[in-house]
Amino acid sequence: MNATVKGPRWWQGATLYQIYVRSWRDTDADGYGDLPGVIAGLDYLAWLGVDAIWLSPTMPSPDEDWGYDVGDYLGVHPDLGTLADMDKLIAEAGQRGIGVVLDLVPNHTSSAHPWFIDARSGPGSAHRDYYVWADPVKGEGEAGGGPPNNWLDATGAPAWTLDDASGQYYLHNFLPSQPDLNWWEPRVREEFREILRFWFNRGVAGFRIDVAHGLYHDTQLRDNPPLAPERDSRLEGRFGQKPVYSSNRPETHDVYRDWRRLADGYSPPRLLLGESWVADFAALASYYGQDDELDLAFNFPFLFAGFDAGAISGVVGETLAHLPSGACPVWTASNHDVSRFPTRWCDGDEGKTRLALLVLATLPGSLMLYYGDEIAMTDVPVPAPLRRDKMTARRKDYRDAARTPMQWDASPSAGFTAEGVTPWLPFGDNASRNVAAQREEQGSTLHLCRDLIALRRAVFGGQVVGYERLPSPPGVWAYRSGPLVVTANFTDRPVSVPGPSGEALLATDPVAGAGAHLGPWRGRIARVS
Ligand code: GLC
Repeated sequence: MNATVKGPRWWQGATLYQIYVRSWRDTDADGYGDLPGVIAGLDYLAWLGVDAIWLSPTMPSPDEDWGYDVGDYLGVHPDLGTLADMDKLIAEAGQRGIGVVLDLVPNHTSSAHPWFIDARSGPGSAHRDYYVWADPVKGEGEAGGGPPNNWLDATGAPAWTLDDASGQYYLHNFLPSQPDLNWWEPRVREEFREILRFWFNRGVAGFRIDVAHGLYHDTQLRDNPPLAPERDSRLEGRFGQKPVYSSNRPETHDVYRDWRRLADGYSPPRLLLGESWVADFAALASYYGQDDELDLAFNFPFLFAGFDAGAISGVVGETLAHLPSGACPVWTASNHDVSRFPTRWCDGDEGKTRLALLVLATLPGSLMLYYGDEIAMTDVPVPAPLRRDKMTARRKDYRDAARTPMQWDASPSAGFTAEGVTPWLPFGDNASRNVAAQREEQGSTLHLCRDLIALRRAVFGGQVVGYERLPSPPGVWAYRSGPLVVTANFTDRPVSVPGPSGEALLATDPVAGAGAHLGPWRGRIARVS
């Protein structure tokens, strides 16, 4: 195996695109998107100009958490297709210069995974130590017999479920049907090396690593400390608890150093992109190691920043100040777990969405779009009885709102499925925002997004360019990104800004491109002369 590859890597300056497979395109009229549907959409993605796609989980799963409860790491979910379909997808995407990145879930398996079924058969079983087992807390009466510590799962319930047969509890940071793997067990590490090789050998371009900040837990099972109510958020902790001992443990980094050596042994190097759900920039930066751990680490403080010049530029500045030299930031504003940015940041306003796209596309590093971002697709209200995500169905911020079918055209089936088929989640307002209509219209958000992607590729491709914030009036964010100068007005009023000093390249709309004024929520890009 080669030593760590240095120098340009294919994801630097690239545009990646997340596909929630079940909602992309349904080719067998069952209401769910599938892998042949992903293949059918490749020409569109090539036209749009993306360099790689990340597919939400494709492995067999009982779907308690829609694929994030894996039953077999080496297969394809029968609802989505077959291994042959996956091979075909990798080949056909490759012909169009598009890499296929899969979702890997190493923090936990499904309770239906054969490892867990065996582990549950008793303390002496071959796979018992693949999972985290602990005895009930000792003590008399109410104090005794309960969970081993105070850790909570993703729903706020105890992160421990009692296995009646053995009288021990098992750990689950998410649902009880998602038992946590025990990364202290060397055989778990070896299993995952094999899983990585299996898919890399098949030609997958890399992995998005689910719950990358998870994996290890404190062996002493110390209680997590309380979190001040004002800090209670999806970033710092939830349910009044800071997950100090149940996540983001130092031992995790060694796993990524190991995987990085493995991924860099391939040509081209395979991408390791972590779902690093951490609040502070030092912790985020730590997942890059000394350019020997993850290649990209998702930036949740950016995603959750307010949509204003001060907040966003502040997060960008902090991020870049903390990342080790040579590290490649990755910017994303939507995904399958949070409200879409055209809703969360932009209140459905298409002008604001265009500004957000312009900014996202001109920051140094990698860009990850979520399917539908390019047509300003918004969240879709899903009535309670139609919600499919068990983990959040009763929450105000239920995740199904951001997982509805891609809006391909204005027809009753949205171009997603066959006429008359009920989609697994309801369609949004596909009459007002869809791919077909926006492809026809030169000035559409889709065309703007495509032009931005082409500009990125031409100017940023294969490198991480330098960034510098430039002086600007309040509410305006101006910056230099490589050879580009970007001016973005995050206010409701026109602002006076210096006219573009170099060649005007692209703007949110034709009138924003020139002159000494920039309209409300408008932005423009020039090339330094
Ligand atoms: C990640 C996924 C999310 C899933 C969770 C548990 O956060 O993005 O969808 O529910 O991990 O696997």
